Amino acid sequence: MIVLGIETSCDETAAAVCKDGKIISNIVSRQIIHSQFGGVVPELASREHEILLNRVVIEAIKKANISLKDLNAVAVTQGPGLTGTLLTGICFAKGLGFGLKIPVVPINHLEGHIFSNFIADPSLRLPFICLLVSGGHTQLWYIEAMENYQLLGETRDDAAGEAFDKGARILGLDYPGGPEIEKAAIGGNPSKVKFPRSLLGKNNLEFSFSGLKTSLLYFMDDFKETSSISKKDVIASYQKAIIDVLVIKLKRAIKIKNVNTCVIAGGVAANKCLRKNLQAALDNQKIIFPDLSYCTDNGAMISYLGEKKLEYKKFKSLSFSASPNLKLS
Ligand code: KG4
Ligand code: ZN
Repeated sequence: MIVLGIETSCDETAAAVCKDGKIISNIVSRQIIHSQFGGVVPELASREHEILLNRVVIEAIKKANISLKDLNAVAVTQGPGLTGTLLTGICFAKGLGFGLKIPVVPINHLEGHIFSNFIADPSLRLPFICLLVSGGHTQLWYIEAMENYQLLGETRDDAAGEAFDKGARILGLDYPGGPEIEKAAIGGNPSKVKFPRSLLGKNNLEFSFSGLKTSLLYFMDDFKETSSISKKDVIASYQKAIIDVLVIKLKRAIKIKNVNTCVIAGGVAANKCLRKNLQAALDNQKIIFPDLSYCTDNGAMISYLGEKKLEYKKFKSLSFSASPNLKLS
């Protein structure tokens, strides 16, 4: 089976082709227009998708060495995400599906992130725990079986990716903040500044990052670089405060659910310091990370999950629409 996946939930215009469980092309066009505003401007993002989508899809088809007629289905992100950007992808997918007379499969973006781990490791078996850490979500999931998921805990305020993005802005770094903070923290001492770690009470699986962000804001108000503390030390300490909480909570969830496999998904999963710390803390468990290109938003995860869904469900209707607050459960 050959499935085209389209992803336009935020500021990446992405398309990929999955053939029998293997990704044979994966094209992502990151919209750089937003960096001057320090965050995504929804209206601009929709317009950029309109401009880029056709080109990105054609490139994905070409790279896969197939023609449009070879497609058996189109999978597209239905939500969560920005209403306008989701609609551009969905309208495009429906038009293509209608013209080619093939099914169009609506995909939950979060489920796509979780399942991107099967691309990284096809031997992955259910059940497992997933730490989903992106720009909009920080959640711990118990993935028991296909479409049988239990939310164990999530953030009460900012997502981990948001803590990176907002922290970067306070620190005078570019958007998106995650990769910028990661780069700027190299060589810094992560123990120099004691930033707070929230909600560490026994068995608590929830997260909170807004206090950490405020604490960085106050710290930077009075901060002057000296020979004993550099800006690099502050950045490394801030990054470590985010990572420590993620590690502690994932470890806790694994213990509570008594499973020995866990996966990490979402943009923040690209962070090498997080990967290193998780690997050190969970040396008895199987821990899987998607390839870096499958961590941030991409069409591969949408095409892969689209094919999986088609294995046991029929998708005939084109009546679905964008669902900006789509939940996974
Ligand atoms: O999954 P994603 O591409 O989009 C959403 O669904 O939100 O995640 C984007 C988030 C951004 O907040 C970005 O700063 C963060 O992932 N991110 C990172 C890294 N690369 C991307 N955070 C930490 N370290 C990174 N290397
Ligand atoms: Zn995402």
